[in-house]
Amino acid sequence: MPNVVLVDKTASLDNAGAGRGLLRECRCRRPPGPGTEQLVRGRPFADLDLAELAAGFDGKFWPYVRILQAALPTLRKDGSVTFITAASARAAFPGTAGLAAINGALEAMVPPLAAELAPLRVNAVSPGGVDTPWWSRVPEAQRTAFFEGLAATTPVGRVGQAAEIGEAVYALAANGFVSGVVLDVTGGANLPMGR
Ligand SMILES: NC(=O)c1ccc[n+]([C@@H]2O[C@H](COP(=O)([O-])OP(=O)(O)OC[C@H]3O[C@@H](n4cnc5c(N)ncnc54)[C@H](OP(=O)(O)O)[C@@H]3O)[C@@H](O)[C@H]2O)c1
Repeated sequence: MPNVVLVDKTASLDNAGAGRGLLRECRCRRPPGPGTEQLVRGRPFADLDLAELAAGFDGKFWPYVRILQAALPTLRKDGSVTFITAASARAAFPGTAGLAAINGALEAMVPPLAAELAPLRVNAVSPGGVDTPWWSRVPEAQRTAFFEGLAATTPVGRVGQAAEIGEAVYALAANGFVSGVVLDVTGGANLPMGR
């Protein structure tokens, strides 16, 4: 497949093994995750642990940048790159300034990279709340309540599934006429609905 999809675990060139090799070369390590309270309520900016924020950049922003730079010499010019960002980049949820900064930094890179690296295409998928193992550190009852709250404020009435994010990534990677786009895959949760 001529496309390159950058996700957290692999930056697949033609196969996942190549991606893992790049991760090793780039010494990208996942930082310890945030605690439950921070996951479901965010963290007030006044209490934001700057070392934790830096670790968040180390775990997401820098791996994308390092991997893309390392992969550039071997990427096909008619291929594509897709970042996975997050709706928190532009959602204005109190307590998520750090998350917004990390994902917003990646989203900001998409248009200039699409112009600079052309004809290579560069896009991003920006997910809303998705039921993945990332949330498994939140106790089940609290997680269920949190997802129900998210679903209630989401036009499609539920949180997303990982496969739906994968389908969006595939759509961007497969369409040779899409570049420089950040695609919201949020079930409509990011729409300004007058709330
Ligand atoms: N779930 C959501 O509600 C949501 C919402 C918006 C955006 N997102 C974004 O979607 C992406 C995927 O999240 P997810 O919910 O699928 O998380 P997840 O269930 O925790 O899965 C993340 C995967 O990425 C791997 N990974 C993460 N950082 C890595 C690193 N630095 N080096 C190597 N592997 C790394 C993990 O590998 P190991 O398990 O082997 O460590 C794991 O397989 C993230 O960028 C996240 O910010 C998620």
